[in-house]
Amino acid sequence: MKKQWWHDKVAYQIYPKSFYDSNGDGIGDVPGIIEKLDYLKNLGVDIIWISPIYVSPCADQGYDVADYCGIDPQFGTMEDVERLIAEAKKREMYIVMDLVVNHCSDEHEWFQKAIADPDGEYGSYFYIETVKDGKLPCNWRSYFGGPVWDKLPGHEDKYYLHVFHKKQPDLNWENPKLRQKVYEMIRWWLEKGIAGFRIDAIINIKKVLPWKDYPADREDGLCNIDCMLKEAKGIGEFFAEMRDQVFLPYQAFTVGEVFNEKEEEIPDFIGDNGYFSSMFDFKETCAGKSIKGWYDCNVPSPDEYKECCFSSQRQSENIGFFSNIIENHDEPRGVSHYLPENACNDRGKKLLAAMYFMLRGLPFIYQGQEIGMTNKQFHSIEEIDDVSSKDEYQVALNAGLTPEEAIQAVGHYSRDNARTPFQWNDGKNAGFTVGTPWLGLNENYKEINAAAQVGQEDSVFTFYQKLIALRRNPEYKETIIYGTTEPIFEDIPNVMGYFRKGSEKSLLILGNFNVEKQTLPVQNIKKVLLNNLPELEYNDNQLTLDSYQAVILEV
Ligand code: GLC
Ligand code: CA
Repeated sequence: MKKQWWHDKVAYQIYPKSFYDSNGDGIGDVPGIIEKLDYLKNLGVDIIWISPIYVSPCADQGYDVADYCGIDPQFGTMEDVERLIAEAKKREMYIVMDLVVNHCSDEHEWFQKAIADPDGEYGSYFYIETVKDGKLPCNWRSYFGGPVWDKLPGHEDKYYLHVFHKKQPDLNWENPKLRQKVYEMIRWWLEKGIAGFRIDAIINIKKVLPWKDYPADREDGLCNIDCMLKEAKGIGEFFAEMRDQVFLPYQAFTVGEVFNEKEEEIPDFIGDNGYFSSMFDFKETCAGKSIKGWYDCNVPSPDEYKECCFSSQRQSENIGFFSNIIENHDEPRGVSHYLPENACNDRGKKLLAAMYFMLRGLPFIYQGQEIGMTNKQFHSIEEIDDVSSKDEYQVALNAGLTPEEAIQAVGHYSRDNARTPFQWNDGKNAGFTVGTPWLGLNENYKEINAAAQVGQEDSVFTFYQKLIALRRNPEYKETIIYGTTEPIFEDIPNVMGYFRKGSEKSLLILGNFNVEKQTLPVQNIKKVLLNNLPELEYNDNQLTLDSYQAVILEV
C-alpha cells in the first residue's frame, strides 16, 4: 500500500448551519467557522470537511445546490470562504468541500433551462421522459418517499427523475457534456486551494437503463432504490474518468459516501490508484436498519458493533483506509445509538471514542461528538425540520403506529439529532447564536458544552485530545496508522478487544461494554497509554476491566 500525506491525519466534519453563528441571524456561517478554527486546532484535527454552503433553496439543507460556484448568503460570501481556506492553511489545516453531483437543485440554471427546452442541450443534463397514459417509466421509490418521477413544470406529459427530493433532479451522468461541466467545476474549486472533497451520494450516479420495474416492497407499489443500485453496471468508468481528469492532477484528497459496496470492489474504490482516497465505513451505521423504514430499525448491540468494525478492518487490510465514524449529519448521535442509555455518560462516551478511534483508517469526528453531544428528545414532529424524518414519520403512521409511538421510534433516527446547534457554553442558546437558533437546541446544553470541558482533565473533550495526541506521538504513530488490526476475545460478549501491531510496537485496545466487571487474561503490559478511569486492576496477568472501562495498552 502506497503511503499518502493524509494517512496520519484526523478529520472533522462541520455542519455549518449548526456550528457557530457570527452575526446573530440564528444560522451558523463561514465567519463563524473561522472564529472557531483555533478551537479545532486545539482539539488536534487537521482535515475539515464542510457540509454544503453553496447557493441553495435548502429543500435538503444545502444538498440541493443551485449554484456550485456561489456561496449561499446565509453562510457568507466567497471572500469568507477564501479567508477560511487561507486561515486554515496558516494553521496547517485542510479544507474539504462537499461535492454534491448526483443531483442539483431544481432552481439550478441547468434545470431551469431544461424546463424551458426539454429537448435542448440542458434537457439532456437530466433524465426527462415523456409519459403516456400516466404510467411512470419505473417504480423506484425515492429516498425521501414517493416515486422518483415528478412532472416537469409546465409540461403535462414530461417527467424528470429524482432519487432524493423532488427539488433534487438527478444529473444525467451518461451525458459526456454534463460530466465535463462537473469536472470543470471541480477544477475551479481545487484551484482555490481546497484539499479535496467528500463526495455525496455518489453511488447513485449510475442508473439501470432502460428503465425497469422491480417487485414492489410496500403498499405504495414502489421498490427500494437498492434493487436498482445492485444491478447497475459500469459506475467504475465514471469514477475512473473523474479520478484521472480531476482528482489525480490535483492530488486531491477524496472520501466517498459509498454504501453497499461488494467486498471485491473495495480495492477499486480505495486501493492504490483507487477511485477515491478513502470511503466511509457505514457497516456500523447500517447495522439494524430495516427495509420497512426507521420505525422498524433495531439499535445494534455492542457485539454487532464490534463485528461490523472487525469485518471492515479485515476487508480493508493491505488495501487502503476506510474513514471511520460513529456519526455524521445523517445519523443519530453515536453515543445515543451504540451505548445503552445507562452508559451514555462520560465514561461510556470515552469507551466508544477509544474503540473506533484506534481502528486502522482515517478517523472522522462529527461536530459535537468531541464533547459528547447526544440525541435530542423529540416530543412531536413539529420540532423536526429534516425532510427525511418527516417522510419516515409518515411511513410509521401508515404502518399503524400512533403519533406518540411514531415520534418515539423515528425520533431516535432523525437526522436532526445531529443537526441541533453546537453547544459552546451554558449561556443563552448554548453560545451558538445571540439570535433565535434555526433549529431547537438540545436541552442538555447546560451540562454538555465545550466551555465546561476544554482544559478539564477528565472531560470527553480532553479524552479526544489525548486520542489525537496519541495518534501523533512519534513513538506510536507508525503502529496506529499502519499497524495491523487483530481482534482478541471476540467470543466474550460485550467485550471489544483488538491489537494494533506495527513493526516495532504492539498496542492492545480493550473495552468492556458490560455493566459487570470483566476479567481477562492479558500478558506483558508495558505501559497504560490511555484509560477512561483513574485506575486499572492488573494482577498475575489478569486484567479486570470495570463496567464500561476502556484502556489502550502497550504490550
Ligand atoms: C447524502 C447526504 C444527505 C443528503 C443526501 C442527498 O446522503 O449526506 O444529507 O440528504 O446525500 O444529497
Ligand atoms: Ca449567521
